Amino acid sequence: MDRELAMELVRVTEVAALGSARWLGRGKKTEADDAATSAMREMFDSVSMNGTVVIGEGEMDEAPMLYIGEKLGCAPAPEVDVAVDPLEGTNLVAKGYGNALAVVAVADRGNLLHAPDMYMEKIAVGPRAAGKIHIDDPIEHTLKILAEVNNKNISDLTVMILERERHKHFIEGARSAGARVRLFSDGDVGAAINTALDETGIDLYVGIGGAPEGVIAAAALKCMGGEMQARLVPQNDEEYRRCVKMGLKDPRQILYMDDLVKGDDAIFAATGVTDGELLKGVRYLSNDRAETHSIVMRAKTGTVRFIKAVHYLPNKPHLVLK
Ligand code: FBP
Repeated sequence: MDRELAMELVRVTEVAALGSARWLGRGKKTEADDAATSAMREMFDSVSMNGTVVIGEGEMDEAPMLYIGEKLGCAPAPEVDVAVDPLEGTNLVAKGYGNALAVVAVADRGNLLHAPDMYMEKIAVGPRAAGKIHIDDPIEHTLKILAEVNNKNISDLTVMILERERHKHFIEGARSAGARVRLFSDGDVGAAINTALDETGIDLYVGIGGAPEGVIAAAALKCMGGEMQARLVPQNDEEYRRCVKMGLKDPRQILYMDDLVKGDDAIFAATGVTDGELLKGVRYLSNDRAETHSIVMRAKTGTVRFIKAVHYLPNKPHLVLK
């Protein structure tokens, strides 16, 4: 993959963020998601790649755009797998909460796990703890390791956990070990990435969230030298069969970094839709301009770029809310 592809992918997440940010706090999550998806889809037409969506908005018969198997890009090469989440945190935008992102991950063809839309157990840490944690360790033990490698007291560690009943044991375990707990309502891609960026102050993400989001976050962590371990959580026979169909001998096997994202290269791009630890959200400025904040990174080089852009909206008429 050419390094220029990384910059082209930022344009894709920027337009998705600009499209969906118009729906902030309007209580309409489907409209916010549709706006992100159609803006992203349009921008993909001008990206120099031969992409196939492996993680997208749904199967071909259930999603009009960015469906699994859809071809993206305008060039014969590079041949890549594309994982998209045009709006990660649909409820966040509908309610006007922080931490919503537009995200894309790309890897050479065949290198992204074709994760079905089901739940996945996940643990994510930054580079210092990579190779030192295990998904099946009790959280108290993981916190001890993090305290050691991050040179912090346990009471200074911060754990991000999706606020769900199913995570009660993680929340109680982290609290009783003395760590700080940041519960959040949606958007675990950002939570996982936060663990690899010192300035966020986040040390650990644990919990069960979407499998597609897990693969996208793993691509980002690969670029930053962090680690995610995961395990699919099929809820019924049909989901179990889907795991077997995608080639997993044991659907409950642990998925390590190279199972989630194979090879040594991947590109990840994200633009903030609403304000969060990782990125600022879209801001509308005077004179028809809007500001976006994005991150783009590449595993091969390990370069992480933060990009602030000011867009002149009359030149992007499809993003003007009717
Ligand atoms: P959407 O953007 O599709 O609404 O997903 C948001 C999200 O919070 C993900 O970040 C997370 O992985 C998943 O939903 C958690 O699922 P659930 O809300 O069912 O617990």
